[in-house]
Amino acid sequence: MKGSERQLIFERWLVDQASRVENKLANLLPTGEDEPGRLHEAMRWAALGGGKRVRACLLFASARACHPAPDVVLDRALDLAASAVELIHAYSLIHDDLPCMDDDDMRRGRAATHIQFGEAMALLAGDAMQPLAFEWMSEMPIAPALTVQATQMLARAIGSKGMAGGQAIDLLSTGVRLNETDLAAMHSKKTGALLGASVQLGAIVAGADSTHREALRRYADALGVAFQVVDDVLDATASTEKLGKTAGKDQEQSKATYVTLLGLEKAQALALELESVAREAVKSFGDGGRHLADLASYVVQREH
Ligand code: IPE
Ligand code: IPE
Ligand code: MG
Ligand code: MG
Ligand code: MG
Repeated sequence: MKGSERQLIFERWLVDQASRVENKLANLLPTGEDEPGRLHEAMRWAALGGGKRVRACLLFASARACHPAPDVVLDRALDLAASAVELIHAYSLIHDDLPCMDDDDMRRGRAATHIQFGEAMALLAGDAMQPLAFEWMSEMPIAPALTVQATQMLARAIGSKGMAGGQAIDLLSTGVRLNETDLAAMHSKKTGALLGASVQLGAIVAGADSTHREALRRYADALGVAFQVVDDVLDATASTEKLGKTAGKDQEQSKATYVTLLGLEKAQALALELESVAREAVKSFGDGGRHLADLASYVVQREH
């Protein structure tokens, strides 16, 4: 198959998976008709506002690598797991944008949730989205032991030793010059942990063995940091219009980023290096791992 043909198939796959999870989320989320309507509208605003749906795509791609045969029951479980990780991600963005954190007015090309619904409702929407994600996970039609493993994986990834911890380090490091080791640790927690959990959840739900899980861990470790390196680079180089969120925020707020530590060129080179580490890690899956490999390139070469 020619490179351009393969790229086209991948791009179509990305669009399909993004609408798959978008539709599922739209069906699963309570609506404004359910009391309290205002809270449910805020949750829908935050969760259904588009976004690249990278975490859902990683989950679907990893499940496919571990379990290539079509399976409708597995697909139902994956829909719930992918909706759960995207819901957690959307909650993290609501809180990240609050005035007490990054104080950002814009998200995904429209008003941030606290601008649209007020701070209190935004905070509560985030609060309510976390347990709802776990409720969906508990409804997956898989062996109960796998549900326990999957739940534990997600809970650990987003708590004080994962995403929330990374966000705390981010705030505590404002105006501080971190060394590369500490910066990598911060990025792997605040962003890498949920991306890694998405990859591992796909594998757990698909019943992957430990060899596959180990290869996926190496893949996700590289991809997780690469994702945030690119986010830092784009913050410094892309426009607000293109990003759908306020550009230049990191410099304005003296955030510790790879751009401030290494400079633009070296940060970009590091992202490319991590892309090859990630691609290499999933070679053992052969053709079944090609969406994972292409996702690593997509993450590094994206423009928003
Ligand atoms: C933005 O994540 C926040 C970070 C963790 C860097 P994404 O770039 O995945 O945001 P959406 O979901 O596409 O809006
Ligand atoms: C956000 O990182 C990470 C999480 C939401 C956990 P950033 O603060 O860099 O994300 P953006 O740039 O606002 O999307
Ligand atoms: Mg932030
Ligand atoms: Mg932010
Ligand atoms: Mg950023």
